Amino acid sequence: MTSEDTGAFYVVTIDGPAGAGKSSVAKRTAHELGIKYLDTGAIYRAIALILAKSEIKPDSEEFLREALSEIKIELKENSVLVNGFDVSGEIRTSEVDELASVYSAVPAVRESLLTLQKEQENYGSLVAEGRDVGSVVFPDAKVKFFLTASPEARARRRYLERISKGKEADYNEILNSIKQRDINDSTRKLAPLSVPDGAVYLDTSDLTEDEAVKFIVDHVRGALLK
Ligand code: DC
Repeated sequence: MTSEDTGAFYVVTIDGPAGAGKSSVAKRTAHELGIKYLDTGAIYRAIALILAKSEIKPDSEEFLREALSEIKIELKENSVLVNGFDVSGEIRTSEVDELASVYSAVPAVRESLLTLQKEQENYGSLVAEGRDVGSVVFPDAKVKFFLTASPEARARRRYLERISKGKEADYNEILNSIKQRDINDSTRKLAPLSVPDGAVYLDTSDLTEDEAVKFIVDHVRGALLK
C-alpha cells in the first residue's frame, strides 16, 4: 500500500537504542510500504563530524550557535551532504558514533536540526528512524514503534556487521560503547531516548530481521485500513 492508495501522506516512526536493528528494519519497512526512509541519526552524525572537524567544543554554546547557522545539511536519496560535500561514508565510523552521541545532547544542536527533520513529511510519506522521532519530531505520526534488544544482542550484531564489511572490530569495546551511548542518550536533559506515548514496543533480541520487518509492515497496513 502506498500514500497514493490512502490519499494522504503518513509517517511511521521507529525509535530505539543504538544497534537495535532500526536502520535495516526501517529501510526495509519503507521499501515494502513504497515510501521514503528518513535516517535522523545520519543528520546528527553529519553535524557532529563537521563541528568536531571545525574544533568547536560541545560546551561552547555561543560558537556552536554561530557555526550551526552556517552549516547547510541536505538529505538526498542515499546520501547526506554538508555544505555541498557528501559525508555519507565518513559518518559511519566508531569515532563518529561517539561524537554524535555527545553533540546530539547539546540543546542548540537539537534545535537547529528539528526544522530540517520536520519538513521531510511535506515531501511524501516516510518511515523515520531515530531516538525522538515519535515523541518530538513527529508526535502525530500514524504509527509509532520502539525497537530494542539486549545490549549483548546489539553488540553482537554491530560486531558481525563490521566484520562482514571487512572492518576491524572488538566485541567488548563495542559492548562498552553501546552501554555508554545508552546512558548518554537516555539521561540527557533534552529529548532523552524514551518509549513514545502510544508506541508499539518490540524487543528484537530473539527475532530475525525478516520477522521484525513483517511485524511492523503488517501493523502499519492494519493501522492504515482503520
Ligand atoms: O542511530 P545512530 O546511531 O546513527 O545515531 C547517532 C547518534 O545521534 C546517537 O548517539 C543518538 C543521536 N540521535 C539523536 O539524538 N536523535 C535522533 N533522532 C537520532 C539520533
